[in-house]
Amino acid sequence: MGMLTVCTVLGTRPEIIKLAPLIPLLDGQPGLKQILLHTGQHYSLAMDAVFFAELGLRGVDVQLAVGSASHGVQTAAILTGVETAIQQHDIGLLLVLGDTNSTLGAALAAAKLAVPVVHIEAGCRSFVRTMPEEINRVLVDHCSAQLLAPNESARRQLLAEGLPDRDITVVGSTAIDAARAFAPRSQGRSIVADSLCRLGLPADAPYLTCTVHRAENTTPEVLPGLLRGLSRLAEQYPILWPVHPRTRRILDELTLPVPPQIVLLPPVGYLDMLALLSNARALCTDSGGLQEEAYALGTPVLILRNETEWTYLLDGGCAVLLGNREEDIGSRGQQNLVDSEQQKMRQAARVLSAQLEDGGAAERILAAIKARWL
Ligand code: UD1
Ligand code: UDP
Repeated sequence: MGMLTVCTVLGTRPEIIKLAPLIPLLDGQPGLKQILLHTGQHYSLAMDAVFFAELGLRGVDVQLAVGSASHGVQTAAILTGVETAIQQHDIGLLLVLGDTNSTLGAALAAAKLAVPVVHIEAGCRSFVRTMPEEINRVLVDHCSAQLLAPNESARRQLLAEGLPDRDITVVGSTAIDAARAFAPRSQGRSIVADSLCRLGLPADAPYLTCTVHRAENTTPEVLPGLLRGLSRLAEQYPILWPVHPRTRRILDELTLPVPPQIVLLPPVGYLDMLALLSNARALCTDSGGLQEEAYALGTPVLILRNETEWTYLLDGGCAVLLGNREEDIGSRGQQNLVDSEQQKMRQAARVLSAQLEDGGAAERILAAIKARWL
């Protein structure tokens, strides 16, 4: 039997983190050769290299270095770069994760060359088509040959869209597995104590962690109100906020006032992020990956959006939708933070099946790929 060459594609912070458990498994699989391709969509040290170092990942085989640009220019550069790589390396299977422009550009390049695509995190939907990620997810699912869904509701969504049952496998979430595996290593970090110290507070003072980076939340129309809402929450508990470069740029451009109880940090590494997360009273976020990680670590989530792809967190009482307007965040957020509510969210029963939370998502992904393609 010949060797199957698999191209694993990553390009942004969450793809690096979520693919980290799988990459060594693919490298060690007999009969399979892995080409690790980085699109270069994320490139700053704090958005990229830091995660390779912390997660012990090997170097990439192909670096497209596409960098930042408009959606069209960036996706086109990824598409043409991946097309060339597929031809040069005689790729027989392409693996993508999630919903970024890297995911879409790579999947399209492969599909056009009739190279089968495996999509991890298939079937997640926000049902908001103006969200760039929603377009990416839908298109990638519909040009993929194998759909690896994180949970049953994602599987049902794929079936509802007419995708064939035989192509779908529920595998769980590598984000949840990685967060649980790495959380103990994050406990010695000093980031929480150092940040609270800047406010003259003791290391064990209660605080909130926050992140904001979605396109729809970082506009001049939305971000000022969102920040005012967070400022009201910060009257209750200080907020420690590692700021995404996109958000930093808009905050600087708009010169928005940030109260001292909101501590702005540069983007942090994975271990510092887990430390900020696991000790927080709650997480306020519009991130997808962080919602799942907070669930994994038992931290309640206040979602700064009107919808989420991770509806099981709402159903299980682990998260609430706050929206992105001042009133919604300020008043409803404060209400949700009162202790009784918080206890309710913290005590929420595990909502995924035990079978999906055994730390074995990466192994299940490998098993599904082997069963279908080797
Ligand atoms: C992208 C994904 C989003 C994902 C997020 C993870 C798309 C459409 N969006 O959004 O789904 O949740 O990554 O973080 O693919 N920048 C830097 N350094 C970097 C990367 C970006 O400074 O290493 C700045 C640039 O000013 C850039 C801006 O951030 O213009 C946005 O980067 P981009 O990759 O276009 O989108 P994200 O907001 O990161
Ligand atoms: N993350 C990190 N440092 C930060 C912010 C996020 O390590 O300053 C990690 C986080 O733990 C999660 C991933 O990055 O694993 C989520 O990325 P992001 O929120 O940028 O994207 P999304 O998940 O919304 O696509």
